[in-house]
Amino acid sequence: MNNFKRTHNCGLIRKSDVDINVNLSGWVSRRRDHGGLIFVDLRDRSGLIQIVFDEASIGSDSFGVAETLRNEFVIEVSGKVRARSAETVNPKMATGEIEIVVNALNILNKAKTPPFYIQDGIDTDENTRLKYRYLDLRRPEMQQNIMLRHRVTMIMRDYLDRNGFLEIETPMLCRSTPEGARDFLVPSRLNAGQFYALPQSPQIFKQLLMVSGFERYFQIVRCFRDEDLRADRQPEFTQLDIETSFLDQDDIITIMEGLIKEIFEKSLDNVKIQTPIQRMSWQEAMDRFGSDKPDLRFGMELIDISEFVGGSDFKVFNSVLESGGQIKVIKVDDYADIPRRELDGLVEYVKIYGAKGLAWIQYSKDGIKSPFKKFYSDETFEKIKQHTQAKTGDLLLVVGDKPSIVAQALGELRLEMARRRNLIDENKLCFVWIVDFPMFEYVEEDKRYKAMHHPFTRPRAEDVQFLLSDPEKVRALAYDIVLNGVEVGGGSLRIYQSDLQEKVFEAIGLTKDEAKAKFGFLMDAFEYGTPPHGGIAFGLDRLVMLMAKRKSIRDVIAFPKTQSAIDPMSHAPSEVDDKQLRELHIKSTVKK
Ligand code: AMO
Ligand code: AMP
Repeated sequence: MNNFKRTHNCGLIRKSDVDINVNLSGWVSRRRDHGGLIFVDLRDRSGLIQIVFDEASIGSDSFGVAETLRNEFVIEVSGKVRARSAETVNPKMATGEIEIVVNALNILNKAKTPPFYIQDGIDTDENTRLKYRYLDLRRPEMQQNIMLRHRVTMIMRDYLDRNGFLEIETPMLCRSTPEGARDFLVPSRLNAGQFYALPQSPQIFKQLLMVSGFERYFQIVRCFRDEDLRADRQPEFTQLDIETSFLDQDDIITIMEGLIKEIFEKSLDNVKIQTPIQRMSWQEAMDRFGSDKPDLRFGMELIDISEFVGGSDFKVFNSVLESGGQIKVIKVDDYADIPRRELDGLVEYVKIYGAKGLAWIQYSKDGIKSPFKKFYSDETFEKIKQHTQAKTGDLLLVVGDKPSIVAQALGELRLEMARRRNLIDENKLCFVWIVDFPMFEYVEEDKRYKAMHHPFTRPRAEDVQFLLSDPEKVRALAYDIVLNGVEVGGGSLRIYQSDLQEKVFEAIGLTKDEAKAKFGFLMDAFEYGTPPHGGIAFGLDRLVMLMAKRKSIRDVIAFPKTQSAIDPMSHAPSEVDDKQLRELHIKSTVKK
């Protein structure tokens, strides 16, 4: 039974409140028994406060009840705010200057001993945390993450509403369409043998809303992709999805920069976002950082040394250069005396990313060391030193291969060396727009081109002529927003003419009939007066992860799945009754 109407939140009481009476409710976070005196840290959503039971003042009956308190009991207390004596002030707690002297206690519920401490910085394995997610979410740092996420979505809604955007919902049961990731399918009971797909994004619907004339749309929406999972990928994740009509790329980028600025400045302390945010072409990002999502918090750029190492007796580099490849390096400052064992490990590391090998130049104090030293003159090593602005004591790591492999291997090595050498300032926020993406990428397995963003992306007008003859030349009107090496959003201007859309489908190997069958409704819609339109989607989970300085999006999602797409708490996915399957007209092929 609730006896005391709550008057205050634990974490918000301050020294200015001394002598007032308060009623508090919350969880027992910690209890210390000093014989005749019991101290409890009481926790609610707002934080912790120390409450004191003094046998002399509360009486032995109530004190006896206080002695039964254990961690995570739910209680309510009535008491008075008192200043702590100077030597008992706890500067680590926001409420550390005061405590509550309790004069009445009520136990609202008892609790079993939790499987882990309800406190920050625990090292419990994540599976256990997810199994008892309701307890994990009780930990202050997790509460902060979820509250930050709430604040971010409120700011998004407010900003977009002020800028004329309408929040419109789109279906969760959709038609399966090709392109993109693998779909999650839902069998239809009412339509035997047919399946819905859960949306990978509301892409086509938001474009249709532009055909309908809504002009500015947004939605904070769940998306589903059956991909292999990583720290920043979940099978269901949330996008802030946006679409606009009659705006060009600069207009859209400007509105989105206003949004980003507001999100960060209004929900984080002491953060200023400089706008306009810098832009970099996809090509430049690949050349300088080996990645289309460069982490700009540190340098260590890729430098081409092909011009110095060609035409020698070193077969490895010769054959790379003869087949149109390149030789590039990254410079690791003050690491010429890297242990040999670490170098051997790095060779294995770059192989994960497709490089056939890794070489190096150690400009150490006692001379130059390199696996290809005997093939080149001292002068060549001096030229390379100048070109890369290396100084004595620096290390160059060298990869030669075709440009895509060099980019991938050195791009990943750059990140790895920055982590190992502690070069990343965790307090920096480095945003960059990546623009001028190629329209297509070649998929070796399928022997065909695939849209790099998606097939509704508009090619640059001057490149349309190459759509069928030289697809690799075509650049897209697409843009990604990258923060600290993470792609937090991506979008594009869209095709709004059905003949151009047909041509793009053709370029990715969809025949007219296939395209009609899969996307006919979109192409039909385009025939009824479609405005030029374009948009973007932000990955909400990734954005909040970075704002909360977390390494995994699972820490900012209330109920996420594990890496193997399982929920250890509710045990989803699970088997279902044969009857359920029969009703859905499907049968499992898995032998029990
Ligand atoms: P895209 O596929 O780039 O674009 O997705 C937009 C953003 O969503 C986030 N994201 C993910 N986050 C967590 N887990 C995942 N599995 C996952 N996949 C993507 C990323 C990404 O930048 N319809 C287009 C947008 C548009 O063109 O307007 C789209 O979905 O942060
Ligand atoms: P190998 O002839 O394969 O034994 O290579 C001789 C040396 O060349 C190796 O020790 C590496 O240091 C270097 N090497 C081989 N392949 C590459 C490559 N793709 N990029 C850079 N260095 C390489």
